[in-house]
Amino acid sequence: MLGIERPVLLAPMAKVAGGELAAAVSNAGGLGILGGGYGDAGWLDKEMTVAGDARVGVGVITWNMAEGGLAAMLSHEPCALWLAFGELAPHIAPIHAAGAKAICQVGTVGEAREAVEAGADVIVAQGTESGGHGRPQFRLRETLAQISDALPDVPLVAAGGMNDQADLDAAHEFGAAGAALGTAFYATHEAIDVREAKGRLVDVDGSDTIRSRVYDHIRGPLWPEGYTGRTARTSLTDEWAGREDELASNVEPHQAAHVEAVANADMGVRVLWAGEGVGAITEVVSAAAVVERFERSR
Ligand SMILES: Cc1cc2nc3c(=O)[nH]c(=O)nc-3n(C[C@H](O)[C@H](O)[C@H](O)COP(=O)(O)O)c2cc1C
Repeated sequence: MLGIERPVLLAPMAKVAGGELAAAVSNAGGLGILGGGYGDAGWLDKEMTVAGDARVGVGVITWNMAEGGLAAMLSHEPCALWLAFGELAPHIAPIHAAGAKAICQVGTVGEAREAVEAGADVIVAQGTESGGHGRPQFRLRETLAQISDALPDVPLVAAGGMNDQADLDAAHEFGAAGAALGTAFYATHEAIDVREAKGRLVDVDGSDTIRSRVYDHIRGPLWPEGYTGRTARTSLTDEWAGREDELASNVEPHQAAHVEAVANADMGVRVLWAGEGVGAITEVVSAAAVVERFERSR
């Protein structure tokens, strides 16, 4: 369906998955998808130039998409558009009209059904173990099983704690044909972030991650109800996770502290989106090395 040699997709991590990482994943036989975030056209112009001639896709978060964001993305002629978090169905027809595939990441069977009815080419089932934002209800196996039961004909990709072929083989039992990796590709040389952030991915364990809305309040934007974000634990999540309403009433000092933590790469405070699978990361490697953990399928 996606014309790739190895059944692995780079999940479009906003501002972390740039042109260098996406190109490296595609050139190694997977599908690199740039993290277009909310649709910042300037960032995408720059990163698509870095990706050069590589066959890559682009991801967008739909609930807060910049005006004209989808058109700006399609103007780069990506091979695929990854839609997630918010309304997906209305965007599928323009993607097809531009000759690209529509990959839709969902957290529930209802979202999957709507996307498939609107013509989605591939569904990514996101489990709650995933890094970054998502729905907190269902673990990956449950999400996959529900979707593959309801929609047996749609190509299904597993997201959440996937690291290698053995993980995909296990997910295959629940209907997955491929894997989408975020956290594992974050810990690569090509990902965009400072050395301290990647070092922390090596150091922390899966049980050191937590889902909360703490960083929504501290850095914004505040995501709609029903979504939380999984990060490495920090002094801020230790203090405020589960008490976000209280945090919201006196957030300014923490916002200032976070700005400083970003400037100083203070990973005890700074946000680090990461999934439970982070425990499998033992070193920062090349993106090709991650892709090659998956068997060649053609
Ligand atoms: C740093 C980071 C940023 C992310 N940003 C996005 C995003 O912009 N859009 C999106 O659809 N998913 C985003 N995600 C979630 C991924 O699409 C995917 O569901 C997740 O990475 C899979 O779980 P894993 O991190 O355990 O591999 C992000 C994940 C991480 C770790």
